[in-house]
Amino acid sequence: MGADWARSAVVYQVYVRSFADADGDGVGDLAGVHGRLDYLAALGVDAVWLTPFYASPMIDGGYDVADYRAVDPTFGTLGDMDALLADAHARGLRVIVDVVPNHTSDRHAWFREALAGEPGARDRYIFRPGRDGGPPNNWRSVFGGPAWTRLPDGDWYLHLFAPEQPDLNWADPRVRDEFDGVLRFWLDRGVDGIRVDVAHGLIKPPGLPDATDLGSSGRRPYFDQDGVHEIYRRWRRLLDGYDPPRVAVAEARLRDVARTALYVRPDELHQAFNFDFLWAPWSLPSLRDAIDRSLAAMGAVGALPTWVIGNHDEARAATRLAAGTLRAGMADRPVVSSSPLDAAVGLRRARALALVSLALPGSAYVYQGDELGLPEVLDLPPSAREDPIWRRSGGELLGRDGCRVPIPWSGDAPPYGFGPDGSQPWLPQPTSWADLSVARQLRDPRSTLSLYAAALRLRKSFVDEPFRWLPAPEGVLTFERGPGLACALNFGPDPAQIPGRVVLASEPGEVLIPNTAAWYTPT
Ligand code: NOJ
Repeated sequence: MGADWARSAVVYQVYVRSFADADGDGVGDLAGVHGRLDYLAALGVDAVWLTPFYASPMIDGGYDVADYRAVDPTFGTLGDMDALLADAHARGLRVIVDVVPNHTSDRHAWFREALAGEPGARDRYIFRPGRDGGPPNNWRSVFGGPAWTRLPDGDWYLHLFAPEQPDLNWADPRVRDEFDGVLRFWLDRGVDGIRVDVAHGLIKPPGLPDATDLGSSGRRPYFDQDGVHEIYRRWRRLLDGYDPPRVAVAEARLRDVARTALYVRPDELHQAFNFDFLWAPWSLPSLRDAIDRSLAAMGAVGALPTWVIGNHDEARAATRLAAGTLRAGMADRPVVSSSPLDAAVGLRRARALALVSLALPGSAYVYQGDELGLPEVLDLPPSAREDPIWRRSGGELLGRDGCRVPIPWSGDAPPYGFGPDGSQPWLPQPTSWADLSVARQLRDPRSTLSLYAAALRLRKSFVDEPFRWLPAPEGVLTFERGPGLACALNFGPDPAQIPGRVVLASEPGEVLIPNTAAWYTPT
């Protein structure tokens, strides 16, 4: 089947604004990505997912789309996208684009018509009269604050994210038809797949009942309604109508991987990001349980899991995995702990977790910069911050800017080759990042980049082999992929022996020191 490539693919996430800036305006662009395709091909990834590059006022970094069929001038032109696609394909790289169906920008033509009160225009969104002088219900925005905004004429509209991101009404057939057209627009141009933003949010429950549990643990009524699946069955037919068939990955931020699995039933989407694994606390039982749950849930619907350790919404793994207090990431899941940050431990764990995630069966997603071991930037100046989470929490939550700092490519000082010399990246890069640049790491066989490249190369030899847990000493997580390759991660406080010949290790040495992992051939 033509979509099978995705089952074990390594997909590299390009956050376009922060990857490479060809024109020197401080913001990454499609030409910048194009210029770095050789880097991605040499790294050994199979596909590239591009975050939104569509016309947008950029209230939420482009996840507020004003025109789904246009490239924002900041990112380039449609011609740039066509050229990028052609040259990616020429290098054997597939390209996945983001689709944002839950909400539009408030600058989208449809919302302007709704604001102007044109007949029927408000039906494309979720407008309601208020209740007792306040909003229609008690729902909260994912970014903080109420999920409703009142227009001067008294009507309220729903926005699960920022007020500039009004939610669409997927009960309106015009919305469904329009997105068929948007999908076709990009698929016809040759993209290999789509990433579906807020895939669990499109259908709201009838009557829009109050939420009874607004915490992050409970099921929120505006997410994961069964009605969403009908939309994905329709999209699957559309994707399968292409030759070769195109693929789709769901962003459904659900804690329960058994619910996530419903999105990848055989007649729905192909993959879903594994938030259960991404959110697993650093401990052997929690990681092993997350792996078991993922394999079981996905196996039950004939799908394979994805393994995700970072993206543009979560605090960077190298910092998240260090003990410490962190108010970064999505507003509903700030990472909080009381012990001080230990950057060396964080990086060591991130490298170990990379080896685990790249050895598990299924597909792996690598967020740009994680292959460099970049840390979360926690001390960005407030004036530089753009995330609506930062603004809407009055600065109480740092939000996601710290994982979006532009990539250091080369050189000893900002912009480190992200843009032309003298250009000012939209978020300032730490002056300590010279050692983390791509150029520096390419020259160092012990760098995080060299570790990723070696892992991606070796991975090809075992992706089709069966997974099995292996018995291991206390505190060591160990599994094999067929007879030739085993992976061990040491969670314990003491060094552990490696029962075999090491083929790749997250830190050099004959034994597995705490917080490190190795791939080895068992003896
Ligand atoms: C998920 C995206 O990954 C995130 O960046 C965005 O803010 C929300 N969806 C809303 O579109």
